[in-house]
Amino acid sequence: MTDTTIAPGTGSAPAPGTPLLEARGVIMRFGGLTAVNNVDLTVNTGEIIGLIGPNGAGKTTFFNCLTGLYIPTEGQVTYKGTVLPPKPFKVTQAGMARTFQNIRLFHNMSVLENVLVGRHTRTKEGIVSAILRGPGYRREEADSREKAMALLEFTGLARKASHLARNLPYGEQRKLEIARALASEPGLLLLDEPTAGMNPQETRATEELVFAIRDRGIAVLVIEHDMRFIFNLCDRVAVLVQGEKLVEGTSEVVQADERVIAAYLGTPYEAAPGSTADAGSGADAGSRADADSGSASDAEGTIPEEDEQ
Ligand SMILES: Nc1ncnc2c1ncn2[C@@H]1O[C@H](COP(=O)(O)OP(=O)(O)O)[C@@H](O)[C@H]1O
Ligand SMILES: [Mg+2]
Repeated sequence: MTDTTIAPGTGSAPAPGTPLLEARGVIMRFGGLTAVNNVDLTVNTGEIIGLIGPNGAGKTTFFNCLTGLYIPTEGQVTYKGTVLPPKPFKVTQAGMARTFQNIRLFHNMSVLENVLVGRHTRTKEGIVSAILRGPGYRREEADSREKAMALLEFTGLARKASHLARNLPYGEQRKLEIARALASEPGLLLLDEPTAGMNPQETRATEELVFAIRDRGIAVLVIEHDMRFIFNLCDRVAVLVQGEKLVEGTSEVVQADERVIAAYLGTPYEAAPGSTADAGSGADAGSRADADSGSASDAEGTIPEEDEQ
């Protein structure tokens, strides 16, 4: 892999519909287990792409391969045509930010401070300047605070800016993770089960938020179990089953695919987008039972704790 200097995620935004993320032949093996098997995926600018599949299908592992937490056993991942170094902070610097299935916030820091942490890849002033609190540092800090507050407004958390992260209800902790990821000014945002543990109202609000993020020129790749959420939102959906991409297409194509119904949905997905029937619960009831998304304090033991994004 080449460790090339990469343009930041914003400021050099390519035209809508050009390839942003390209994963080719990604394989991830753990000993004898092939968690991700030869997966190709492209995310273009302006797109919202869904990644679905039963628990253990390899979705999170694939995200970890995309974001530098894992070095794929085989295959290649490029962002804006450049091979990404397998270092999470460099991936973030390049313009890809993510949230985690098991929320990772600094629980004893305020909501605002959590977002400020997310800006560190976009600040230039070094440690000496920070200690001396020189004019450059103060200017940059003021700018960061302004941007962080704007993101809290955007995500609906502004009035809780001074609250400790651990005191937020679960749904707002997930939103805060999104705000923190946005603070790194990404060109592509990866969300790992953003509505897990949310009530239906919070889920709808998150749907609106994802559309608003896309409207800001940020492409989105989202893993979710809530089928209504996915099929409402996504331009394309890829289905992973046992590490392999079973099918990829528009919501309509994926919902109607016999193999997807047999392997994952169980029963045909009945509620078309906009319908009032709660089809999501039927489709994910089984796969949700052992989801590890119930607790904000879960440790995601399998991946390193450093280099959050
Ligand atoms: N660090 C790891 N070491 C060994 N096996 C792992 C590791 N991470 C994930 N796995 C295994 O890879 C498979 C895919 O897991 P995961 O990517 O978490 O699935 P999903 O996100 O689709 O539920 C599972 O069988 C899981 O146990
Ligand atoms: Mg997962």
